Amino acid sequence: MTAEQLAIARQYTDFHAQEFGYANVSFLNGTIEKLEDLGLEPESFDVIISNCVLNLSTDKSAVLQGVQRLLKSGGEFYFADVYTDRRLPEAVRRHPVLYGECLGGALYWNDFLSMARTAGFPDPRLVSHHPISITDPKLAPLVGLARFHSATYRLFKINGLESASEDHGQAVIYRGTLPEHPDRFPLDHHHVLETGRTQPVCGNTYRMLHQSRFREHFDLIGDFSRHFGPFPAWGSLSPFNDQAPDALAPAPSAAPTPVPVPATPAGCC
Ligand SMILES: C[S@@+](CC[C@H](N)C(=O)[O-])C[C@H]1O[C@@H](n2cnc3c(N)ncnc32)[C@H](O)[C@@H]1O
Repeated sequence: MTAEQLAIARQYTDFHAQEFGYANVSFLNGTIEKLEDLGLEPESFDVIISNCVLNLSTDKSAVLQGVQRLLKSGGEFYFADVYTDRRLPEAVRRHPVLYGECLGGALYWNDFLSMARTAGFPDPRLVSHHPISITDPKLAPLVGLARFHSATYRLFKINGLESASEDHGQAVIYRGTLPEHPDRFPLDHHHVLETGRTQPVCGNTYRMLHQSRFREHFDLIGDFSRHFGPFPAWGSLSPFNDQAPDALAPAPSAAPTPVPVPATPAGCC
């Protein structure tokens, strides 16, 4: 980030406060790997967001650890980035154009999941994703068979999250009280919770709703006094292959027609 970019951002702070209603914005200049240098209070943030920066970082573990340190218990890192279906060779990672296009630095999704768990986010939740097509005829051959996805994840910092989905016989009922979600609450790609419906959930989902800012919007049934084995899981070999509904897609109409997700050009998340 340059001083000129920051000056423009600061120049329009009031405009954005009026336009979007948030007057609590300030800009700090730093590198994402060294969040501790910014003088921010540890454990003081409800939500940390990012769009298409992690893939450019040269130390992605440091970023996740820094974010973990700044989040309150019950807070979350909600961010969009680019992932691949395999580890990229050195030549691809170091290619200046591929790096600048947010492709060369993209993480293999399974390495990202391990890294997130190690940084203190035991249960990364995929919110939405779409494939990225590389249409430039000079760049496409460079990446070989690697496939890229833009994906939004939410990483909750919650005490007691387990490494797998476990069934404790719990359920939740969404109250429909978030103004932007009157009919259903999209926690993630696999958990779209309808208003008023009693929905069985694993222990981790229960904790995410019980120990986060979403608590007041749910009736929570059960506790952790009994264990019934693993919670029946969604999923497939790749998190980006399954057919679960997109948590951010509009509610289905009366006669839903499957629509293929369009590939987007390379360039950003
Ligand atoms: C693809 S742009 C995304 C910008 C913005 N988040 C958006 O959605 O429009 C990537 C941004 O990350 C910044 N960036 C790259 N590496 C960084 C790092 N290590 N620490 C902080 N920012 C970085 C770049 O300066 C650039 O502004």
